[in-house]
Amino acid sequence: MRFSDEFLSELRSRVDIEELIGRYTEIRHRGSRTPVALCPFHTEKTPSFVVYRETQSYYCFGCGAGGDAITFIRNIEHLDYPEAVRYLCERVGMSMPTDPVDDEYNRLRRRCFEANREAARFFYARLMSEEGKAARDYLKKRQLTDETVKHFGLGYAPDRWDSLVKYLRGKGYRESELISFDLARKTSRGGTIDAFRNRLMFPIIDLRGNVIAFGGRVLDDSKPKYLNTSDTAVFKKSHGVYALNFAKNNSKGKLILCEGYMDVIAMHQAGFTNAVACLGTAFTNEQISLLSRYCNELTLCFDSDEAGVKATNRALKLLENAPMKLRVMQLSGGKDADEIIKTEGKARMSNFIETALNDTEFALQSAEKKYDVSTDDGKLNYMNEAVEILAALDNEIERDLYSTRLANEIGVEKQSLAAQIAKARKARGRREKRQVFENAMDLVRAEGEVKSPNPQKRQFRRACAAEEIILASLLKHPDYLNKLRDKLSEDVFVTDFNRRFFRDIAARIRDGRSLDLSVFNETAENEDIAYLSYLLAKGETLADSPAECEQCIQTLLQEKNKAAAPEIGKLSDDEFRALFDKKRIENASK
Ligand code: UTP
Ligand code: MN
Repeated sequence: MRFSDEFLSELRSRVDIEELIGRYTEIRHRGSRTPVALCPFHTEKTPSFVVYRETQSYYCFGCGAGGDAITFIRNIEHLDYPEAVRYLCERVGMSMPTDPVDDEYNRLRRRCFEANREAARFFYARLMSEEGKAARDYLKKRQLTDETVKHFGLGYAPDRWDSLVKYLRGKGYRESELISFDLARKTSRGGTIDAFRNRLMFPIIDLRGNVIAFGGRVLDDSKPKYLNTSDTAVFKKSHGVYALNFAKNNSKGKLILCEGYMDVIAMHQAGFTNAVACLGTAFTNEQISLLSRYCNELTLCFDSDEAGVKATNRALKLLENAPMKLRVMQLSGGKDADEIIKTEGKARMSNFIETALNDTEFALQSAEKKYDVSTDDGKLNYMNEAVEILAALDNEIERDLYSTRLANEIGVEKQSLAAQIAKARKARGRREKRQVFENAMDLVRAEGEVKSPNPQKRQFRRACAAEEIILASLLKHPDYLNKLRDKLSEDVFVTDFNRRFFRDIAARIRDGRSLDLSVFNETAENEDIAYLSYLLAKGETLADSPAECEQCIQTLLQEKNKAAAPEIGKLSDDEFRALFDKKRIENASK
C-alpha cells in the first residue's frame, strides 16, 4: 500500500511515540532529557531502550531494534505495514486514504493466508470423508471428541502425492506460490507434490484468526513424528505459540505451557483452556515476549521424562529475567499432560496445577534430588547448592521464608544458614560487578561488530565512524548536502553499505522529499529502519557543524588510501579500565 508523504507526516505528527511506547513498557525519565525504558523486544534488567522525542523515534542499544511509531507497532503487534498504519490511524482518529494499491509483499501474504485457509478446509473435509476413516479412528483412539476436532480445525492430509496441489491449482494458485507457502515441495524430477501426506493436520492460527501454518502427525510410529511448516511470508516457527488464539481469552493472566500439540488439545478438552505450546523448536525470547503480554504467571507443564526435565531447566534459564511469575508442574511417571488426563483424570491434572512449585522451590528440589541427604556429606552438598539458590533471590522476605524452611528441613541453625547466604550474596555481588565490567569491555572492544548491519564495519572501523557521522548530520541538517557539495559525493564513502544510505538520503534531499522515518518506513526493510534510527540516535551526539563533516570527509579520503583496515583498536586492560571507570562515573552522575 502506498501512502503519500503528506498523509504519513500528518499521522506522525498526531501520534505521540512516547505515550505509545509507554503502553508497552514503563518509560523512565533520566533527568529531564532522554526517556529510557526496558526494551520490550528483548529481556533485560537495565534500560537500553531510548526514545527520541525530537525525531519521534526509538533505538535499543541492547538489541539494535529501532524505528518510528509505525515500526514499533509493526513489531510489537506483529502487524504488517498497512495494518500498523491502520492501527495508528484508529488510535488518533484519522481515516485511511482510500483506493490503496497493495504492494507485492502484502499481496503475497494475503495469498498465503487464503491458501492456508483453503488448505485447512480441504484437510478437514478429507478427514470427514471416506478416505479419512483411519485418521478418524486414530483420533477416537486418542479420545478426542468431534467437538474438539472441530474447535481446533484438525484435518487429514490424504495418502496421495498431490491431492492438495491439485485442489489448490483448481482454485487458481500457482505451483510456485504453493511451494513458497510450504504447502508443496518440488521433487528432484521437477514435479510438485504435497508437503504433508498421510498425516493428521493441526492448523496453527495466529491471534487474529489467520491460519499461518500447519503441524502434521503420522498415524503410526513412523518418523518423523511431526512435520511443521517452515518459515514463510506469514510464519516464523521460532515465534509461534500454538493455541494462544484460544488461550489468551481464557487465561485470567495465567497460562500453562505444554510441550506438544496433543497435550494442549487434551488440556483444552478437559477444561484447562489456558494451555499453549511452543512449536517443536527450542523456546525463544520472541515466544517469551509474546507470552508475557498475555499472562503474569506462566506454569511450565513439560513431560516428566528426562528430555522434559532438560527442557524445563532450559526454559527456566531463558525465563530468568522474564517479567512473569513462574511455576513448574511435576507430572509423574514419565508421562505428558495428555497421558495424565487420559489415565488419571481431570481432577488429578487440577491437582498437579495447584501443587506446581514456584521456580525457587523447583530449583531447591532439583538440587536435593542430586544428593543422598540421609548422609552428612549429601546434606552438606545440598546445603551448599541451596545457599547459592537462595542467595540469588533479591527479595529479603522470600530469602527469609525459604531459609527458615531449609534450616528446619536439614536441621541446622537458622543463623548460621543466614550467615552463609549473606556471604554468598556478597560473592555474587562481586561476580556480577566483574561480569558487568567484562560485558562492557566486550561491548567497547566489539563496538558495532555484533550489532552493526554494515558487514564492512569491522574491517573499516574508522571510516565507518566517519561515514556514520556524515549520514547522521545529513538526516539532521539536510542543508549540509548543499553546503558540502564540492567535497561530498558517494565516491568518498568507503563502505558499500553506508554509500547506499548516502545515495538514498541525498536523493531524497535533492528531490525535496521528507526524511521522516515514517516515509522511509514504507519501502525500507526492518533492518534499514533500525539502522536509520541508530543514525538518528547518533545525531544526539554530533557537533552539529559542517566542519565536523568536512573532517570526516578528510578521514575517509585517508582511509580510502589504506589498502587494509588497521587492527581493531585494542586497548590494554588498564586503558580499558580507565575508560570504563570514566564512563561509570559519567553514568552515575546522570
Ligand atoms: P512429543 O514427542 O512429546 O509429542 O513432542 P506429543 O505432543 O506428545 O505427541 P503425541 O502424544 O505422541 O501424539 C512434543 C512436540 O515436539 C514437536 C511437536 O510440536 C510436538 O507436539 N515435535 C516432535 C516435532 O516438531 N517433530 C517431531 O518429530 C516430534
Ligand atoms: Mn504425547
